[in-house]
Amino acid sequence: MAALLEVKDLCKTYVVNKRQNNILKNVNFSVKEGEMVAIMGPSGSGKSTLLYAVSGMDGATSGTVMFDGKNITKLSSNELAALRLDEMGFIFQQMYMMKNLTILDNIVLPAIESKKTGESKKEKAQHGEELMRKLGIIEVADNDINEVSGGQLQRACICRSMINKPKVLFADEPTGALNRTASNEVMEELVKLNEEGTTIMMVTHDAKVAAKCSRVLYIVDGNIKGEYRSPSDEKMADKDRERMLNNWLMELGW
Ligand SMILES: Nc1ncnc2c1ncn2[C@@H]1O[C@H](COP(=O)(O)OP(=O)(O)OP(=O)(O)O)[C@@H](O)[C@H]1O
Ligand SMILES: [Mg+2]
Repeated sequence: MAALLEVKDLCKTYVVNKRQNNILKNVNFSVKEGEMVAIMGPSGSGKSTLLYAVSGMDGATSGTVMFDGKNITKLSSNELAALRLDEMGFIFQQMYMMKNLTILDNIVLPAIESKKTGESKKEKAQHGEELMRKLGIIEVADNDINEVSGGQLQRACICRSMINKPKVLFADEPTGALNRTASNEVMEELVKLNEEGTTIMMVTHDAKVAAKCSRVLYIVDGNIKGEYRSPSDEKMADKDRERMLNNWLMELGW
């Protein structure tokens, strides 16, 4: 299948107190439509920076990011905003929901802002409810955001990220704040979305989570140090996948 995302010689430099910090150093990779890719690596290695740069949330210092044939580093801010709203979904830890809206209204908000589907307001709300039902949180539709558990809020974030039927979902540690049970539930949903065709790129520290992905990129000090492909054997047990990935991670000094 064609590459949905193609990253070439991506560099990101932050200047702090007049000192240049080269955080991403000529990163190259591509993601095909339908893949589910995990980004792993030590803390501070540049994982979030990479995700922000490839999703257009933050600019690159140099290099190109092609998304669906468009170089997003060359788009105007309006074009980029429309592309991100319509074709990309985001689950970022620091992205809070609006306090004065219910969970359902928060989920539907990106659809109200988008002209993509041509649905009426009512249809958009119905679509939001449908997603909440699918992710098992319909009972909290009318709750405020401080009236739900961490796992429910995270699943609500997934609903919100999916409301405009994006081609790709970017997630930064989507299970990072969750206990094992809630983490498993969220991963189950992400795997389902991926099986239905959504391309997913996510940062995670959790090998159990990464073992669900088809590919793992391991970043050290702003470079891709290794790339792992999960065995394609569908019958392989989760614990065997996890063990194989852990062995690979250990070889890289994880
Ligand atoms: N806005 C910024 N300004 C300056 N430096 C930054 C900025 N954001 C990140 N950095 C620096 O870039 C480096 C990489 O940060 P990044 O957040 O990408 O790491 P990470 O791999 O996601 O780490 P973690 O696993 O802890 O989330 C760090 O040294 C960080 O201090
Ligand atoms: Mg990070």
